[in-house]
Amino acid sequence: MTTVTLAPMEGVVDVYMRDLLTHLGGIDLCVSEFVRVSQNLYPASVFYQYCPELKTGGKTSAGTPVHVQIMGGEPTVMAENAAFVAELGAPGIDINFGCPAKTVNRRDAGATLLQWPDRLHNIVDQVRKAVPAEIPVSAKMRLGFSEKSLALENAQAIAAAGASKLTVHARTKLEGYRAPAHWQYLRPIRDALDIPVVANGEIWTVPDFDKCLEVSGCEHVMIGRGIIARPSLAVEIAAHQTQVEQEVAFEWARILQLVTEYHIGLKDMANETRQAGRLKQWIKLLGRTYQESPELFSHIKRLRDPGEINGILEQELRALPN
Ligand SMILES: Cc1cc2nc3c(=O)[nH]c(=O)nc-3n(C[C@H](O)[C@H](O)[C@H](O)COP(=O)(O)O)c2cc1C
Repeated sequence: MTTVTLAPMEGVVDVYMRDLLTHLGGIDLCVSEFVRVSQNLYPASVFYQYCPELKTGGKTSAGTPVHVQIMGGEPTVMAENAAFVAELGAPGIDINFGCPAKTVNRRDAGATLLQWPDRLHNIVDQVRKAVPAEIPVSAKMRLGFSEKSLALENAQAIAAAGASKLTVHARTKLEGYRAPAHWQYLRPIRDALDIPVVANGEIWTVPDFDKCLEVSGCEHVMIGRGIIARPSLAVEIAAHQTQVEQEVAFEWARILQLVTEYHIGLKDMANETRQAGRLKQWIKLLGRTYQESPELFSHIKRLRDPGEINGILEQELRALPN
């Protein structure tokens, strides 16, 4: 059966979002937002901040494992931090070779490393050796930095270093997040590697899911924006895979409840402006699926007081037809 991993998304897929979405079902695995590793061994508090689930057995309250993602270009420090987060109870470690941010790439981390397959190999190799064998070490890459000629070589370097799985976001760093995703470039990687290759990029609907598997030849997928914009997507995929012919997509009323639940969860996040920002960001993305979303957005876009936002959400919930 094809597994669905919820993509790591810095500033979007936080502990509250992971908790909420994994309760809906259909998500087999989560990956934390990246922890940028540069010079030192971080204290436990840093890892707990990015992945509070480390305190609950490395799982969300729905029981879905959360692998911790680390990012950096210096193998020894990466290995040291990976060993420590494994000690803290991470059920898996994922290495980020895909981040396109200029500030990150300028500092020798993320997608810039895709220009040197030997460096990818070295990082994965040292991390793998530092972490107990029973804890999986995986990696996530793009098809390249400015072009795709090293895609296969990079994938092979990662696999040869002992990664247990490779996720490929089917675009180069230069292609950013612009559609389309080039799923056809995943097929030679999938054919060449003995480890699972997870396809990622531009899966927004069940037909996209089918098409991605068909074109890429991959057995597993990772989905980011598609699940955020359509929270039922993983449930729809699960129903599709078991050929359950029932309507599992969510109505707006359900979405409104989820948004309210997320807002309640966010109260634990420091800084009310940040809380409001996260909520608005989600409501904006929901606009891709739900025509009601832009109107809700217009009602809260100037607010940041949690009480006032809650008032609007309650008003919207009361206004729903019974
Ligand atoms: C706002 C945002 C934050 C992201 N943060 C991360 C991250 O922390 N680590 C990572 O590996 N990828 C990150 N990504 C990339 C996603 O994991 C994923 O590869 C990309 O969005 C393509 O998948 P999608 O089309 O299903 O969204 C991020 C993407 C977005 C849009």
